[in-house]
Amino acid sequence: MSKLVVLDTTLRDGEQSPGVNLNKREKLQIAKQLERFGVDVLEAGFAASSRGDFESIELIAKEIRSLSICSLSRALIRDIDTSWDALKHAADPRLHIFLATSKIHMEHKLRMSEQDVLDTIYKTVKHARSFFPVVQVSAEDAGRSTKEFLVKFSNAAINAGAQVINIPDTVGYSTPEEYGELFKFLRENVDTKADTIFSCHCHNDLGMAVGNSLAAIRAGVEQVEGTINGIGERAGNAALEEIAVALHIRKDLFNRTTNLNLREIKQTSTLVSRLTGLAVQKNKAIVGANAFAHESGIHQDGVLKESTTYEIISPSLVGVERNNLVLGKHSGRHAFTERLQELGYDLTKEESDHVFKEFKRLADLKKDIVDDDLHALVLGEKVSGKNKYEFSELNVAFNSNSIQTATVSIKLENDQVVQDAATGKGSIEAIYNAIERIINLSCHLEDYRIQSISHGEDALAQVNVILSNNAKKYTGFGIANDVLEASAKAYLYAANKVQKEVAVTQV
Ligand code: KIV
Ligand code: ZN
Repeated sequence: MSKLVVLDTTLRDGEQSPGVNLNKREKLQIAKQLERFGVDVLEAGFAASSRGDFESIELIAKEIRSLSICSLSRALIRDIDTSWDALKHAADPRLHIFLATSKIHMEHKLRMSEQDVLDTIYKTVKHARSFFPVVQVSAEDAGRSTKEFLVKFSNAAINAGAQVINIPDTVGYSTPEEYGELFKFLRENVDTKADTIFSCHCHNDLGMAVGNSLAAIRAGVEQVEGTINGIGERAGNAALEEIAVALHIRKDLFNRTTNLNLREIKQTSTLVSRLTGLAVQKNKAIVGANAFAHESGIHQDGVLKESTTYEIISPSLVGVERNNLVLGKHSGRHAFTERLQELGYDLTKEESDHVFKEFKRLADLKKDIVDDDLHALVLGEKVSGKNKYEFSELNVAFNSNSIQTATVSIKLENDQVVQDAATGKGSIEAIYNAIERIINLSCHLEDYRIQSISHGEDALAQVNVILSNNAKKYTGFGIANDVLEASAKAYLYAANKVQKEVAVTQV
């Protein structure tokens, strides 16, 4: 079986999903999980696009040493130099230059002739190769480009030193048959070198991103690109977890290996969904809540007799455990620490003390604490960092025939606790009004969503919000035993992001 390289672009193309705006700490958490999942190349962002992207790429490149870390770049010398600045400390840096090759893009967007595009890609790749050991080139909108021009473009990039030729179906226009054929044509007609590899990158506008990627893999591409949960611009990118499981279940057909650890799929999906605020649809393949649920009596009967009657994927293959080890109020520090270690967490003493305190608080309110609860507690600790505002206490008076009142207490950086109250048409509005009075920051609530973590009446609640301030959007999540507390925490999480940005721009 030949090896397939997996490039994950959740933190770059995935982060281009409307409303998603991850900060450095969140990106690092996702990057660490992608490392556990076993991707080979991690596209950490677009260094020249913003200060935030630059700093995230730099941080990830310094912290994650076992993967190749990549930055996207326009075909501009200044973008390439900025990308190098962000990646110069990486163990295995990669640059990804893109330039459009379709007639529509060249004429209307770039206003460049075919020759301009060929000259530009040659010049910029040559420049990049003077310091980047690996340069990947993308023919943007390749799905609507002519095959003949793609050959010329690939030749120019390879002659200048590019090793990876990515052929994106940028607008999700291709069909599996066409996309597979395109790679066969390129393989036969491009003047490849011994180190040249072809890569596929698909978008899901017609719902064919995974199908197209699998067709490209069947046609022999050496690299596949995608995102976790298929997040990305418009209808998103190819979902990596779906590709990974298809390759495994149908290895008879695909005959390719990857470094992916499929058991990390569920946890990776949950983390990405939690931090981006993009919910996973219930019936989504592999990671949806219903992906392994059997509703009809005939199916249930079949599965009970022999699971393979209706289950082609065993839940445990992708890390969905039905019988988690349960911890509770009487579990001691030892059992708690051991379980966290088994789940792959390596916490500092300070982090562990804090999470244990939260665990004990939760255990007083919730009978059984399962792995999903522990993951949520650890994540809260890992991404929160030192914030200006910490949730302290909440009191809500609800009256079904009147307006609602909320009293909120918030701990400031100097440990001082500030309290204020406000009213609202609903409890959430009252809470958010009270918080705004305390932190003196006015944000618009663009989106509010609630879901439960694990099962049962005492399941933890997770709230995701999107706030906007000065036309920028900020995501936040909060987890608590009670929906109102989770709502307050979600708002404060996002408000802390707003506050940090306002503080930076005021400097
Ligand atoms: O879809 C696309 O064309 C891209 C490129 C920037 C590679 O994401
Ligand atoms: Zn893309």
